[in-house]
Amino acid sequence: MSSDNRILAALDIGSNRIRAMVAQAFDDDAIYCLGYAEAPAEGIRRGVIVNMEKVTKVISQVVEDAEAQATVRVDSLLVGISGDHIRSINSHGAINVSRSDDEITAQDMDRVAQTARDVAIPTDREIIHVISQEFTVDNQPGVRNPIGMNGTRLEVEAHIVTCAASSAKNIFRALERCDLNLSGFALESYVASRSALTEEEMELGIALVDIGGEATEISVYKNGCIRHSASVPLGGQNITNDIAIGLRTTVDEAERLKVSYGNALSELVRANEMMEVGAAGGRPERSISRSVLATIIEARAEEILSLVSRELRKVDFDDGLAAGVTLIGAGSRMPGLVDLAEQTLNLPAKVAHPVGVENLPNDSVGPQYATIMGLIMHAAEEEMASLGAGNGLRGALKKIEGWLTGQF
Ligand SMILES: Nc1ncnc2c1ncn2[C@@H]1O[C@H](COP(=O)(O)OP(=O)(O)OP(=O)(O)O)[C@@H](O)[C@H]1O
Ligand SMILES: [Mg+2]
Repeated sequence: MSSDNRILAALDIGSNRIRAMVAQAFDDDAIYCLGYAEAPAEGIRRGVIVNMEKVTKVISQVVEDAEAQATVRVDSLLVGISGDHIRSINSHGAINVSRSDDEITAQDMDRVAQTARDVAIPTDREIIHVISQEFTVDNQPGVRNPIGMNGTRLEVEAHIVTCAASSAKNIFRALERCDLNLSGFALESYVASRSALTEEEMELGIALVDIGGEATEISVYKNGCIRHSASVPLGGQNITNDIAIGLRTTVDEAERLKVSYGNALSELVRANEMMEVGAAGGRPERSISRSVLATIIEARAEEILSLVSRELRKVDFDDGLAAGVTLIGAGSRMPGLVDLAEQTLNLPAKVAHPVGVENLPNDSVGPQYATIMGLIMHAAEEEMASLGAGNGLRGALKKIEGWLTGQF
C-alpha cells in the first residue's frame, strides 16, 4: 500500500467533548493531521451512550467537519472506549512451541495470546485488548520479544481489558446511523500512552491520569508495559457543579469562572484577588475572592486525586513509580493541579505535551489532545500489523462485524 492512501481516522467520544481526527501516515512513521474537529458532547454519560439521537448528531457533525478540512472521506474509524464499565485483569498463557527446530514464530505468539485470553469472561462483556506484558521462554522470564528465539515452552503474562458489551454495541449502532464503519475499539487510557509517555518512563514506572469531564481514567506502566487500568467516576464536571452550588450561580457561569480564574491549590491564590460572578437566579453580579473559588476546586480535586492514589496503591512495585505521574485530559489544564497531585500522590507530577502527530490545529499541543492523538497512533500501528499479517483493514473490519453480530 502506498503512503498516499494510508488515511487514518479516530473518534474520541468523551463525556464532555466529542473529537474526531483524520490523519495521514507516511512510510517514515510520520503522521500528519489532515483534519480535526470537536464539539460539546451530547447524549453521553460517563463515556456511555444514553441518547442515540443526540450523540449521532454530534458524531456526524464532527466527523464531517474533520473530513471537510482533510478533503477526504474516511472508510472507517477507530473509536476510543472508556468509563467505569471497563475492567482489566492480568492473565497467564502457555503453549508448547510448534516448530520441530524449536524456533519461536509469530504464529506461536498468536497461539500463546489465545491461551491467555481463554479466561472466563462473562457473556455481557467483550474483550477489547489482550496486551502481552512479558514472555517466559522455557524457564527464562522477562523476555520482551521471543520471535526468533529458541525454546520448547512459551508462556505469556497478558493484560486483558474488557468492556460492557452493550456499550460497545451502542457505539457500533451510533456509527452505523452516521453511515460510518468501525475499524476497532481501543481503551483510551491505554492508547493515550503513545502520545503522552516516553518509552523510558514506561520502563521506569509511571501512572497516566486522564482527567476528563465525568471520569478520571488511570493506567499504570512498568517495565515497558501496561500493568493496571482503572476508572474513577469523577472529573472536571464535578468541580464545575460544586462551584455552581458553592457560589450559587449557573453551571455555565461556574464553568467560565473555573476556566478563567480557577486554581486547584488555594494557598497559591491571594485572598484579595477578586473576580466578578455573573448575575443568576435574581441575584445581582457579585465580587468574590478567587481564593473562595480555589477552595471549592481544591476540595473536589483532592478527592479525585485521593481516589487515584487508592488505585495506585493496588499496584505493588518494589521500587514504586520512579517516573511519577503524567496528567492528560482537558481537566489537567487547571493551574495548581500538578502541585496538588504531587502533594496528594507523593509522586513527581507533570502535565503531558503529547507528541507523535504533526500539523495539529493549535500551535501549543495541550493535554486535551493526548487521547485522539494516541488513537490515531494506535490506528497506524494496527494498520501496519494487519498489513503485515496479510489481512488489511478490511479483514480487521470483518472481524469486528462478526464479533458484534455474533454477540448480539
Ligand atoms: N482550561 C481549563 N482548566 C480547567 N479545566 C478545564 C479547562 N478546559 C477544560 N476543562 C475541563 O475539562 C473537562 C473536560 O475534559 P475532557 O475534554 O478531557 O473530557 P472528555 O474527554 O470529554 O470526558 P471523559 O474523558 O471523562 O469522557 C471539563 O470538566 C472542563 O471543564
Ligand atoms: Mg476523555
